[in-house]
Amino acid sequence: MGRYTEQVEKRRTFAIISHPDAGKTTLTEKLLLFGGAIREAGSVKGRKANKHAASDWMEIEKQRGISVTSSVLEFRYQGCHINILDTPGHQDFSEDTYRTLAAADSAVMLIDCAKGVEPQTIKLFEACRMRGIPVFTFVNKLDRQGKDPLELLEEIEEVLGMRSCPMNWPVGMGADFCGVYDREHRRIHRYERGQDSYVLETDGADDGRIREDVGDVLADRLAEEIELLDVAGDPFDMDAIWAGKLTPVFFGSAVTNFGVEPFLESFLDIAPAPGARESDQGSVEPDQEKFSGFVFKIQANMNPAHRDRIAFLRICSGRYERGMAVNHVRTGKSIKLALPQQFMAQDRSAVEEAYAGDVVGLFDTGNFQVGDTLCEGGKFRFERLPQFPPEHFIRLTNKNAMRYKQFQKGINQLVEEGAIQLYHTFMEGIDELYIGAVGELQFQVFEHRMKGEYNVDLIMDRLPFRFARWVSGEVSDPSRLVYRGHTRCVKDSRDRLVVLFTSEFYLSTLEQDHPDLTFLKLADG
Ligand code: G4P
Repeated sequence: MGRYTEQVEKRRTFAIISHPDAGKTTLTEKLLLFGGAIREAGSVKGRKANKHAASDWMEIEKQRGISVTSSVLEFRYQGCHINILDTPGHQDFSEDTYRTLAAADSAVMLIDCAKGVEPQTIKLFEACRMRGIPVFTFVNKLDRQGKDPLELLEEIEEVLGMRSCPMNWPVGMGADFCGVYDREHRRIHRYERGQDSYVLETDGADDGRIREDVGDVLADRLAEEIELLDVAGDPFDMDAIWAGKLTPVFFGSAVTNFGVEPFLESFLDIAPAPGARESDQGSVEPDQEKFSGFVFKIQANMNPAHRDRIAFLRICSGRYERGMAVNHVRTGKSIKLALPQQFMAQDRSAVEEAYAGDVVGLFDTGNFQVGDTLCEGGKFRFERLPQFPPEHFIRLTNKNAMRYKQFQKGINQLVEEGAIQLYHTFMEGIDELYIGAVGELQFQVFEHRMKGEYNVDLIMDRLPFRFARWVSGEVSDPSRLVYRGHTRCVKDSRDRLVVLFTSEFYLSTLEQDHPDLTFLKLADG
């Protein structure tokens, strides 16, 4: 038992992954309500009512009524200390979204029961799988007619390649929705439209009390399906869940607040507390005495009144104390952690102490980069955060040559924040700057911030490329990798060779023509 084991065991740090409109904001809000962190529904976001998300920090978000930046929400429930790392729910998303997952210990995958597994969910799920973190599934909107629950499980297994284990099972759906059957406790959480839910204790899915309560049709169907799951389904297996190989599945309806609390309780039971993290000098235990953490996100100008830049630090071990001195491993400097902030929506409150799993925001005057390790008394680095391949590219020109210095400064800062990637051309005497982003919205945010924060006007020309690959291997003549109009060779900000492609066809052609080279989808950060 380490010195801080008790504190670590109480913590659960997770991200919610979903496709837009699956109900992430709604679910987050209900969770915060249980924790007493907010008092009224609608304080996180009331998009249609033209209220803005509590996590909407940037002006562009307000203009568009969407949440671009990832935020961190913290609340307590039944002795647990819970940190939700919020990933943007909008169609366009950035590297921040992926990197946020590096700071999470588990993920909740939210699925709309009518839509099933959607594209953005797949992308985010892949990022979870890469890290091997446990994924919990919440199938939402059971108050509406959706796909057959067995079909949904099949979809999860087929599309995502993940085994599943339903923790509860819906009784009816849409207009017939009567609640969920809790397989472990053999009870039904009864749902009645517009009324409070109640619990019906049973001796099993074939108990006569269910028949009396919900009628023959639904009772027969439930008994049949539960028998099928018991016989043919995957059994509950904690090791498989923790290894990210089996997802426990819960059914509910966030908007009617049905099934959310039992889900939360079960999740807190099963989900892992912060664990050991790998570094270049072996693994770092969360309850060890010495403090350590890494920066997973940098956000500038969150509060226009302060013009500040905040580095989000995920604590990995030890105890954070206000004003403590730590090593900034990349620069070798000692840094005093003054005035960190913890976030609950827009209210920033100073943090006095924090432990592994917590996220603190550090005021940053340009010292930090995404991926930096901070630690007490050591000189190790946590594993690098991968850089994800952008899917959108533009050519960037500074409209006003007089503002060259600001242009450079703005680009450097925004690249350091990690929201966009910078490339330069180097062949045929052409010297151009390109930027790439995982989501297209990042370009608008970039343009807006270059104007608002650095007073720089840009000319942005869209390029036809759809993805990038880092080249690994000896390339004596990069021009051999060029198919005019379809591929282009550039260098990234660390001078590594990158090829931009318009389609998969040219990637497979290059792979065939150059078996000695590897075209990597992910680069080290
Ligand atoms: P997101 O953050 O994942 O994008 O989704 P959000 O919570 O904003 O929910 C998207 C829409 O789905 C909202 O409706 C929301 O009310 C609805 N919704 C969420 N959970 C449930 C549920 O369990 N059942 C049903 N039937 N609907 C649900 P909207 O009409 O777009 O907005 P609003 O006017 O309700 O805010």
